[in-house]
Amino acid sequence: MHNMAKHEVTLHINGEDRTLVIRHADTLLDVLRLQCGLTGAKPGCENGDCGACTVIVDDLPYKSCIMLAIEATGHAITTIEGLENSPVQRAFARCYAFQCGYCTPGFIMNAHAMLEHATSIDKPTIQEWLESNICRCTSYEEIASAIRMALSTMNATFPDDCERDSLST
Ligand code: FES
Ligand code: FES
Repeated sequence: MHNMAKHEVTLHINGEDRTLVIRHADTLLDVLRLQCGLTGAKPGCENGDCGACTVIVDDLPYKSCIMLAIEATGHAITTIEGLENSPVQRAFARCYAFQCGYCTPGFIMNAHAMLEHATSIDKPTIQEWLESNICRCTSYEEIASAIRMALSTMNATFPDDCERDSLST
């Protein structure tokens, strides 16, 4: 069958080229997890709704469950494994911005992209960027605190510790 045909592709992941044999229909999420051993991106809804599978492609967050791996050729892919010791990762740990942790890689990827990309970062901007991610443990308050802490370490205008302040206020 045509869609079962395999292709050799090279994906640029976390600064390294990975040559892989994939099917046209393979999602980026499956290729990262099953072929590359990068299990930080999580399968949640697998329907584009929860954000647990978020990775950064070039400089923007994408839901890897609804992106074909073959579409990612020629682009720079960053997974949570590529963000070790980043300001956002450290802030999430410092602020305990997780409970079960299943959603955490997706939130960190999205927040990292926001900090790199958004020109003005205020509460509405944070709220808007995080709308694409769901935390079933409802750790939103701590997540917002972690983002503000990461902002402060990147020389922005928020406090430099885990102030508790809901996104909705
Ligand atoms: S698993 Fe991709 S958006 Fe939920
Ligand atoms: S910490 Fe459990 S889903 Fe977010």
